[in-house]
Amino acid sequence: MFNKRIKIKQLLAQEPDNQEVTVMGWVRSFRNNQFIALNDGSTNSNLQVVAELGKFNDTLLKRLTISASLKITGAVIPSLGKGQKLELKAATIEILGDSDAEKYPLQPKKHSMEFLREIAHLRFRTNTFGAVFRVRHSLAYAVHKFFNDKGFVYLHTPIITASDAEGAGEMFRVTTLPAHNPPLTENGAIDYKEDFFGRATNLTVSGQLEGELGATALGEIYTFGPTFRAENSNTPRHLAEFWMIEPEMAFCDLEDNMNLAEEFIKYIIRYAMEHNREDLEFLAQRLADEEKQLPLDKRSELGLLEKLDFVLNNNFERITYTQAVDILLQSPAYKKKKFQYEVKWGIDMQSEHERYLVEKHFKKPVIVTDYPLEIKAFYMRRNDDGKTVAAMDILAPGIGEIVGGSQREERLNLLLQRMEAMHVPAEELWWYLDTRRFGTVPHAGFGLGFERMVQFVTGMSNIRDAIAFPRTPGSAEF
Ligand code: 4AD
Ligand code: MG
Repeated sequence: MFNKRIKIKQLLAQEPDNQEVTVMGWVRSFRNNQFIALNDGSTNSNLQVVAELGKFNDTLLKRLTISASLKITGAVIPSLGKGQKLELKAATIEILGDSDAEKYPLQPKKHSMEFLREIAHLRFRTNTFGAVFRVRHSLAYAVHKFFNDKGFVYLHTPIITASDAEGAGEMFRVTTLPAHNPPLTENGAIDYKEDFFGRATNLTVSGQLEGELGATALGEIYTFGPTFRAENSNTPRHLAEFWMIEPEMAFCDLEDNMNLAEEFIKYIIRYAMEHNREDLEFLAQRLADEEKQLPLDKRSELGLLEKLDFVLNNNFERITYTQAVDILLQSPAYKKKKFQYEVKWGIDMQSEHERYLVEKHFKKPVIVTDYPLEIKAFYMRRNDDGKTVAAMDILAPGIGEIVGGSQREERLNLLLQRMEAMHVPAEELWWYLDTRRFGTVPHAGFGLGFERMVQFVTGMSNIRDAIAFPRTPGSAEF
């Protein structure tokens, strides 16, 4: 019986035809004891429901409080009010669930993003988060559509692993050993042989290594799953749990990889622009209002929609790491000592450097390639110069690094050399090395941080507002 309801999005797209329909949703506001603004999450727009004066008793009307849930049946009639072509003339109003307006934490006023994070279980009921999560959904759907249409295989890589794909040691341990008095080895270390898996395990930081196993048989695969990093970075761009999309392609070099990444990013942005216009317009307005409070030089030059259009209509800039460092060294910012961190060949670029390149110098997304081998992961393919690797990072305005990827080292001897130099245990990764032993091929891939992408498209300035229930240092509520 519940499926007889019509969603408000669908209803608002119709013409007023006096037909009777049933809608269900939550009260956003109730004005003049007569006008209910009802929202059911299908769209940012509310349906105006008219409860004619005198038709409903006072006891019922008193219960039409903010966020009460209702089932309403009535006729769809033309609206006399401004801003809507139709409204629902209520014949019956049934209260599905009351909501105590005194205790309900969301009031019809502007709340800060910080406050809304504290009530993340209810923030979906705001216009802003309704829009963010509908856009996030569309982006996720577009990811699958893009790769499916190209014949990639969606591979589910494990969440519990025994390896550290990035070699950065930022892992959450997974164990069932008791926290107090765990079994110890003879020399006093925790004895993971006694643990659930018979070895030390952790939550994955990336599905790439397993992705490579899939790609070197299936040809082209992608993963789209949660990844975990125990880095203690309290920034607007870091989460301890985030979602990553990692395509991996056999018979693919760095240039093919860059081309795919650029096409992919544009595709999913275009998909959201075409399917989430109303939400994006709302978010654009929200961002514009927010930026009005900033000093002039801190405001974006382009509005959200103009920025997205600009990205769609322009090629990403492509430069090498060496060129990037030269640009930084020549920059007025460097000369005026505006960078906090040192600039010279060999540095791991800091976010201030990346943002200078994309926001000040090129003013568009930039793909930086061929980084020094010392600062990149062991699996990246060594270039002929012996100093750099076939890496690529994509930097986006307002976000910084959004994609990290590379061509992989397919030559067994060079891979083993790199692993040894970086203390990556070759015995434990015997299965990874087998791909280089049995029919190795040139291959490449990248990882797109999904929440950073959601941030970029929705204009949310903090990554905690791009995921439903953010996990960050010191915070795992909900
Ligand atoms: O650059 P990263 O560490 O690359 C990898 O993990 C590779 N294995 C990917 C690959 O080649 N298959 O991470 C990839 C992306 C980053 O560019 C960033 O967008 C995102 O993942 N990312 C994070 N997003 C949110 N919070 C964090 N702590 C993140 N760390 C990385
Ligand atoms: Mg990276």
